[in-house]
Amino acid sequence: MIYSFIIVLLSVIAQGKSQICDGVAQYDRCSTNSACGCFHTADADTTGVCGLLAMFCSNLIPCNGANNTCHQPGTICVHHRRCSDRPVCYPISMSDQRICPPMVKTTSASTTTVISTTSNNQQLEWKIAGEMSQERIRHTATMLPNGKVLVTGGFNNLNTRRSTELYDPSSETWLPNPSLKYERSTHTATLLTNGKVLIAGGRDDFSFPNASELYDPSKSTWTVSGHMIRVRQYHTASLLKNGKVLVAGGYRSGNGLLTAELYDPQTGNWATTGNMSYARAEHTASVLRNGQVLVTGGHNGSAYLKSVELYDPDTEAWTLIDNMNYARKSHTATTLIDGKILIVGGSNKSETVHYNAELFDPEAGKWTSTGDMNYGRLGHASVLLKSGQVLVAGGYGYRPDKKVRLFNRTEIYDPETESWTITSDLNSVLGTHAAFLLTDGRVLTVGGKYSEILNMTE
Ligand SMILES: *[C@@H]1O[C@H](CO)[C@@H](O)[C@H](O)[C@H]1NC(C)=O
Ligand SMILES: *[C@@H]1O[C@H](CO)[C@@H](O)[C@H](O)[C@H]1NC(C)=O
Ligand SMILES: *[C@@H]1O[C@H](CO)[C@@H](O)[C@H](O)[C@H]1NC(C)=O
Ligand SMILES: *[C@@H]1O[C@H](CO)[C@@H](O)[C@H](O)[C@H]1NC(C)=O
Ligand SMILES: *[C@@H]1O[C@H](CO)[C@@H](O)[C@H](O)[C@H]1NC(C)=O
Ligand SMILES: *[C@@H]1O[C@H](CO)[C@@H](O)[C@H](O)[C@H]1NC(C)=O
Repeated sequence: MIYSFIIVLLSVIAQGKSQICDGVAQYDRCSTNSACGCFHTADADTTGVCGLLAMFCSNLIPCNGANNTCHQPGTICVHHRRCSDRPVCYPISMSDQRICPPMVKTTSASTTTVISTTSNNQQLEWKIAGEMSQERIRHTATMLPNGKVLVTGGFNNLNTRRSTELYDPSSETWLPNPSLKYERSTHTATLLTNGKVLIAGGRDDFSFPNASELYDPSKSTWTVSGHMIRVRQYHTASLLKNGKVLVAGGYRSGNGLLTAELYDPQTGNWATTGNMSYARAEHTASVLRNGQVLVTGGHNGSAYLKSVELYDPDTEAWTLIDNMNYARKSHTATTLIDGKILIVGGSNKSETVHYNAELFDPEAGKWTSTGDMNYGRLGHASVLLKSGQVLVAGGYGYRPDKKVRLFNRTEIYDPETESWTITSDLNSVLGTHAAFLLTDGRVLTVGGKYSEILNMTE
């Protein structure tokens, strides 16, 4: 009775900003108000709304089972297994920041780290080399032809970002840059052959923009260019040899998508292309030397996938090929010098990470296991070094308390020995970031320093 009364009252008065939690386990603390906990949205493992835990289950209506949406205005589809196995519609007003205030003010800035690498394995030293003006994870980072790195959108603990900034590795400084037309996180950025950058998909706090945007580095401008046929997040975007961009899979309202579409830079329009055999998001896509696109694993909204498909740009059709040894999502795929694809880490179960890695040989069409990492991880960055080795940095891994959280570990894979060597820790805990090889051989990682919320849980 009392709760019902409070709920009604709050939904009338609370029209403020909702609080979002990210990288916090389901029901874990996400607010200075200990009565609040994190409810993961039906389409994410680690993101959700930070809302009041104490609510009578009978007040919560199940989401629309077909697409995990909520018809009632002011509600969002979240997991709440204490109430129901099926996702439920949670009142957004119960996650108002006036009810569940953020644990810390996110004032700490994002950091960039530069590592000097040499071909032999001497001790590598990371150095912080510039702070972003805003903290962000689930942003994009793209190296432009002029050597600068464009960072767009993303998410801090509270809000989705519209802002973008540019990093200049030569001066090690961040430069202001015009904002996107739409707030976005979990979107993609693709450098086109004409030097422009295509931004597609992703979501803002509660909706999915269908407009794609184009950045022109010569004019520093953003323009809307085309509308995607299906909105999506956690999809992949691959630049094909014909100059078009293949977008595949992703989530829409918690369900994996099997649809794919092509952006044509000549017309600025999207067109459907062949469907994958399986719906998937948080997968990888790699353009092989023969121009085909290898898509691996991912998650379909209810299951982790080990299936692998190849897209042929000539026929616009997908072919299922041999599965990976393990199902995984949020792994990385890196093309080695010999054209093989190194698949690293990811996860096949909530709150666990893979230590293992596998190699795909495009000529044989076969998978083989390769050396295990020293630290299991997902959502990390991976980059091919000049030496042919592969550096992986950060991501989510096991913290000393055995919880899977953003962490600072880095290591290097040597294709000759198929083994991993630990290198020095990042100076900051970087989330969903990117790593680039600079022309001088150094590696740049760009990531948002995650808020201190994680350290304060338990
Ligand atoms: C979800 O499904 C319901 C009924 O199946 C439909 O009315 C609604 O438009 C769908 N919503 C979205 C966003 O697809
Ligand atoms: C994009 O979204 C807008 C606004 O929701 C809608 O009017 C438009 O039809 C959509 N375009 C496509 C191609 O779906
Ligand atoms: C692709 O999948 C979508 C959604 O399931 C469906 O509407 C469409 O007809 C499919 N296209 C083809 C060519 O099978
Ligand atoms: C996800 O995969 C599981 C297991 O293969 C399957 O049962 C389920 O139908 C799939 N869901 C979607 C949305 O494809
Ligand atoms: C998940 O992956 C681990 C290795 O990281 C493996 O031991 C386990 O059997 C896998 N679980 C399933 C259900 O495949
Ligand atoms: C990396 O994280 C570990 C575990 O949280 C911590 O002990 C270590 O000091 C960190 N390293 C750096 C350079 O901050």
